[in-house]
Amino acid sequence: MRTTRRALAAVVSVAALLLTSACGTGEDDSTAAKVEVFTWWAEGGEKAGLDALVNRFTTACPGQEFTSGAVPGGAGINAKQVLNARLAQNDPPDVFQVHAGAELLDHIDSGQIKDLTAEFSSWGLTGTLPEGLIETITVNGKLWSVPIGVHRANVVWTNDQVLAESGILTAPRTMKDFIANLTRLRRDGVESPLALGRDWTQLMLLEAVLISELGPKRFTGLFTGTTKWDGKAVRSAIEDYATILGFSNADRDSLDWPEAERLLIDGKAGYQLMGDWAAADLEANNFSGYDSFTFPGNGKAFQWLADSFALTTGAANAAGGTCWLQTVASPEGQQAFNAQKGSIPARTDAPTTGFSDYQLEAAEDWKSGVAVPSCAHGSACSQPWQNAANAALGAYSASGDPAALQSALAAAAKQFVRQG
Ligand code: GAL
Repeated sequence: MRTTRRALAAVVSVAALLLTSACGTGEDDSTAAKVEVFTWWAEGGEKAGLDALVNRFTTACPGQEFTSGAVPGGAGINAKQVLNARLAQNDPPDVFQVHAGAELLDHIDSGQIKDLTAEFSSWGLTGTLPEGLIETITVNGKLWSVPIGVHRANVVWTNDQVLAESGILTAPRTMKDFIANLTRLRRDGVESPLALGRDWTQLMLLEAVLISELGPKRFTGLFTGTTKWDGKAVRSAIEDYATILGFSNADRDSLDWPEAERLLIDGKAGYQLMGDWAAADLEANNFSGYDSFTFPGNGKAFQWLADSFALTTGAANAAGGTCWLQTVASPEGQQAFNAQKGSIPARTDAPTTGFSDYQLEAAEDWKSGVAVPSCAHGSACSQPWQNAANAALGAYSASGDPAALQSALAAAAKQFVRQG
């Protein structure tokens, strides 16, 4: 990926004016059947994407009314807990947001979501989703959730002015360069050159460092059981991670990603590692003084994650939920959502009208890069594994004990890895 600037501001602000609430797009029709769609998209670029999809749904599904079950918190950190409690109490939403991949496994095992294999072919998804993505969401020979968009996780966002004031005008290519730049920024008075948030954002950072240290294949092997978590390579990645963490804000454990992003916008930090949903959010915050680059040393690795929607087996309005999924599956729904959300459509035939230069480049990189999955965003690991990894990172942030971090990560892998 080249260093690029986004040009989403106009699109995002028009959408914000037109669509003031997630469920405010339809007529208030008291006879309409309500469809509860459960997500963690409640503000900024995330809500703009959801609103655009709701708008399509309202047109495509007459007689159905969207109701939002949004529980805010980046990467679904709060939403997943609420969802799991509701599912356990037999109080499911009709449809819920879930990452495509291993994150689905526990829902499938527990019989909480419907098999959508037949719908995939009638909605034209089988021939239009990339094969690798279909493979990832196929479990027991069946398809379980409808992917809407693909995000890239291993991207660093910058505040160009902060960097320029320290004479940093180009993107660092290696970890060594990156650490040198962080050192330089601190020397010049930027106390916390790297904006960072709580546990799952720290897991993202560690994953990016691991990709640099191990390369895409061995990194992926960490989640399939072919690469050792307790070996030398992971130890050395943890050492680099520790160094980089030392340049982050001390209050990281209490911040969600938009709050960490605020440090970047306000010029208190020069860099933030965050998935490419950050661009739509920076634009929604009227900040255009940024650039982006792939995490140093990651080469052509495209660390992907896909947002998708699943239909619950206990859905009160299964017809409405199915119509939501059909909207998600349609090329028009994918275009409308992704133009606002900053991801690229899961369908390869969806129009790219209204997409930024960044998104068009990301679409090219998705085709030509090396796909690696993400544990922080559920394409690589199951929910219990993700929870254990988040907890290990949170504990490390407080204790600074590298051996404890490595053994906690190794124990989680041992407990949760599923081969084959
Ligand atoms: C990811 C999700 C993205 C974005 C992000 C931050 O897990 O897939 O769409 O919402 O979390 O909340």
